[in-house]
Amino acid sequence: MFYKFSFFLIFFLCTCVQPMAHAQTRVPSQKSAPAGNSKVEALLKKMTLQEKIGQLTLYTTDWESTGPTIRDGYKNDIRSGACGALFNSHTVPFTRELQRIAIEETRLKIPLLFGYDVIHGYKTIFPIPLGEAASWDLTAIEKSARVAAKEASSAGLHWTFAPMVDVARDPRWGRVMEGAGEDTYLGCRIAEARVRGIQGKGIGNTDAVLACVKHYAAYGAAIGGRDYNTVDMSERFLREYYLPPYKAAIDAGARTVMASFNDYDGVPATGNKFLLDQILRKEWKFKGFVVSDYTGIAEMVNHGVVANDKEAGELALQAGVDMDMQSAIYQRFTAQSLREGKISLQQIDDAVRRILSLKFELGLFDDPYKFSDQARYDATILSAENRAAARDVAKRSIVLLQNKGNVLPLSKNTKIALIGPLAENKSELIGNWCGAGSGSDCVSVREGLQLAGYNQVAFAKACEIADHDESGFKAALEVAQHADVLVVVLGERADMSGEAASRSNIKLPGVQENLLKALKSSGKPIVVILMNGRPLDLSEIVNDADAILEAWWLGTETGNALADVISGAYNPSGKLPMSFPKSVGQIPVYYNYKSTGRPYDPNSKWTSKYIDEQNNPLFPFGFGLSYTTFEYGEIQCDNPVFKKGTPVQLRVNVRNTGKYDGEEVVQLYIRDVTASVTRPVRELKAFKKIKIPQGGNETISFSLTDADFSFYKKNMQFGSEAGKFEIYIGGSALASRKLSIEMKP
Ligand code: BGC
Repeated sequence: MFYKFSFFLIFFLCTCVQPMAHAQTRVPSQKSAPAGNSKVEALLKKMTLQEKIGQLTLYTTDWESTGPTIRDGYKNDIRSGACGALFNSHTVPFTRELQRIAIEETRLKIPLLFGYDVIHGYKTIFPIPLGEAASWDLTAIEKSARVAAKEASSAGLHWTFAPMVDVARDPRWGRVMEGAGEDTYLGCRIAEARVRGIQGKGIGNTDAVLACVKHYAAYGAAIGGRDYNTVDMSERFLREYYLPPYKAAIDAGARTVMASFNDYDGVPATGNKFLLDQILRKEWKFKGFVVSDYTGIAEMVNHGVVANDKEAGELALQAGVDMDMQSAIYQRFTAQSLREGKISLQQIDDAVRRILSLKFELGLFDDPYKFSDQARYDATILSAENRAAARDVAKRSIVLLQNKGNVLPLSKNTKIALIGPLAENKSELIGNWCGAGSGSDCVSVREGLQLAGYNQVAFAKACEIADHDESGFKAALEVAQHADVLVVVLGERADMSGEAASRSNIKLPGVQENLLKALKSSGKPIVVILMNGRPLDLSEIVNDADAILEAWWLGTETGNALADVISGAYNPSGKLPMSFPKSVGQIPVYYNYKSTGRPYDPNSKWTSKYIDEQNNPLFPFGFGLSYTTFEYGEIQCDNPVFKKGTPVQLRVNVRNTGKYDGEEVVQLYIRDVTASVTRPVRELKAFKKIKIPQGGNETISFSLTDADFSFYKKNMQFGSEAGKFEIYIGGSALASRKLSIEMKP
């Protein structure tokens, strides 16, 4: 960690006016920046070099038991204009006081920008992003981000370090909890929804904050799932699977980007001109600003691509990092680098312009306090409306993985033995990256069941999440004796996923598997509720449990949302956004694998396989049960032989054949049978979540365009190739309805 370096820049170089380096071409996604362009230029003319560098400097504030605090040195840096942005700074009084210093005690009165990791809620906590992704419900996901932005903005925040859109195929990586899972297409749609929610009707509105798409790029591909680790992949792979969600977020209007900690192709992302300049700015026409990740600039010394901090700053600025988070390297060395001709004044000015433009667009120069609004804060924080939204998203995020003998739902007069370390816990329910959320605001599972009207609930904790003490099993077995059904709430600790929380073993920690085995001896039906931040190895659990509800970390309304599902008031509709492996040795296991020259054949040794494990995961991508059943009809197509460039119209009838009304996520996958490069066996290209009443049926239509058949061809041009395609439609990546179609040149 790099804390404050109390350096004062002594060189106040005069500020020359530089020509605008970036012609503001209008593209649909990135509003040509500044309404206040001329204001930015006028301000830039007045700024000293130190004041310019200050705008590129971002520091953290702290949080003590007494509330938010700031280090003295940083406060002085605000006064001298050496720091223009702060993160982790929130609450109305605190942001007002810091802003007051910037406005009343600095020469140019440039307002501060306040950022924070509002990842799945500010005070009202929603499910972790991976959990929300399981809802496949873009309206609900957008709503969640909207509520988060409303709450955060009222507390003085202008900027959230979200959405995290890193595609991840390795559940050992702790940060899978922050993203949308393994798939590029689903990841793109969710990235857009989150940006729409965060930025609302547009930057400048008091309830909208700046989105920051992170971690650019390919952070989710850290080798071995070990956080911060190296990333190495072909450019084809990068462009095809990892880059699209960042692009989707930017096209949806995200105005800032965070560079990632990892290297790509031998160059740390923080100093990677190919990623930051060639792709981001030149190809995607990104006009906002790029911030480093926490001390990411300084870490380039450890990466071994620069000899010292000064060189790290030069590499980062040249590559396109505008703002330095917490390294204090720009602050300490930029003036010297400029004197030595290692960087140009134009590079500095361009970075300053991008940051000031957004401060203007936020309206901070007109009213620097507009976001820190106590009345709005009091009206919105944890309001009944926000809690209702959190409950709604939470119930939609739950995935029913197993339901042997239709043990679920449970009628209200069921005698329940509620067992397990998470059964009445509140503090863990908000998961990791939980903003300003508090466990004390959460509804526990026990409370949720009681509130729902289950009044025969006996409780036993049985064990802790991660220790090895089994002495509580006896009491749990006693409670089990008198119950009709055991509801066993198991999982990880919230801090077992998130940053710096990779695991080499992804089974339930501690003695929880033993607990389940012990409870199984009671002969009672067992419903397992799982709380976790990643796909787990559930190979033992599926044998011991009758029903399994994957509940991730559901946030403030956990207990109510679970009671909705357990009682059948809401019929579960979640689908996995990531494959759940059979064992850690299968990882990475994902649905859109390539055929290989020797496709898997369980009966043939010389095929691509393990000798001690099957290839398929325990639960595939897109999988999730309902209390009802859905039957898919044959796929209908108006034009199975179609000309390149014309849309293909597809339809499928889905029938609700069970005993409940229900929602189904109808998923469409394609396979390009023969192409100039190898293609995955399946790729998700469309989905629709629909509600079908009991006994009813619905015809769902899809239209596939040329973009859906396109990929990076052998010559790296993006486009489609004529030939045969297979279409699969169904309720998971194993969808079995199939239709062959053909594209003519
Ligand atoms: C994380 C980022 C986060 C930043 C600021 C870093 O350690 O990688 O995701 O936004 O800290 O809290």
